[in-house]
Order: sequence, then C-alpha cells, then structure tokens
Amino acid sequence: MAKQIKMHLLVCCGTGCRASQSATLQKALERELKTNGLEDEAKVVTTGCFGFCEKGPIVKVHPDNTFYVEVKPEDAEEIVKEHVLKGRKVERLLYTDPKVKSMYPIANTWGVLPQTDSNSTSKLWLD
Ligand code: FES
Repeated sequence: MAKQIKMHLLVCCGTGCRASQSATLQKALERELKTNGLEDEAKVVTTGCFGFCEKGPIVKVHPDNTFYVEVKPEDAEEIVKEHVLKGRKVERLLYTDPKVKSMYPIANTWGVLPQTDSNSTSKLWLD
C-alpha cells in the first residue's frame, strides 16, 4: 500500500526569495527527503510570494503552520531530520515578531497572522 503524504514543505519561489537561493533550497529539501526515505510522506511544493520577502527565503510547513524565515539551503538537512522526521521544530528559524518578541507559528487554522499594531489581520497565505 502506498504511503500517504502527511506533510508539505511550502517553499516560496517568488522573486525576492529566488534572489536568496530558494530554488537551491527547494532542491536541497527534496534531496534530504529522499536521502531520509521520506519522499512518499512529505512533499516540497513551491509557492508564490508570502509577502515576507525581506525575511526570505520562507518555508511554511503544513499541517502545523510552522513559518520558517531566512532559510538557507544548508538548513535543509536540519529541517528534514528534526522537523519532518522527529516532529521537532527548528526554533532558530522560526519567525519572531520584533514587536511582541514571540515566535510564530501562532497563526490560526486559516493561516491568518494577527497584526501587532492594529486590530486588523493580514492573510499571508491560502490553505
Ligand atoms: S518572494 Fe518570498 S516572501 Fe516574497
């Protein structure tokens, strides 16, 4: 019986993140999944801009809404071995809101991040 995809690694390949090696990161993540025999359980998907270009490359992990920022190709091994394989988030790569000093992911199930300076919310991605 074929294994079911349980996790998606969404790699931003918008213009800003591409300029910061997101295509190389994508390939590195795919290679690490294969190296660890996880290619049937986790899949790398490229996306458009998340609106966080200055923090790119961005990797969002589903289904747990983890939001990694400034991810480098050399971080792929740690993401796969720690997060995908062991379920432990790589804290040093989590987005930290500079105003509240808290680490995301605190997004709700619709992927909406609360704003710290207004009552509005900003939709950064679609599920
Ligand atoms: S190009 Fe990746 S967040 Fe904008």
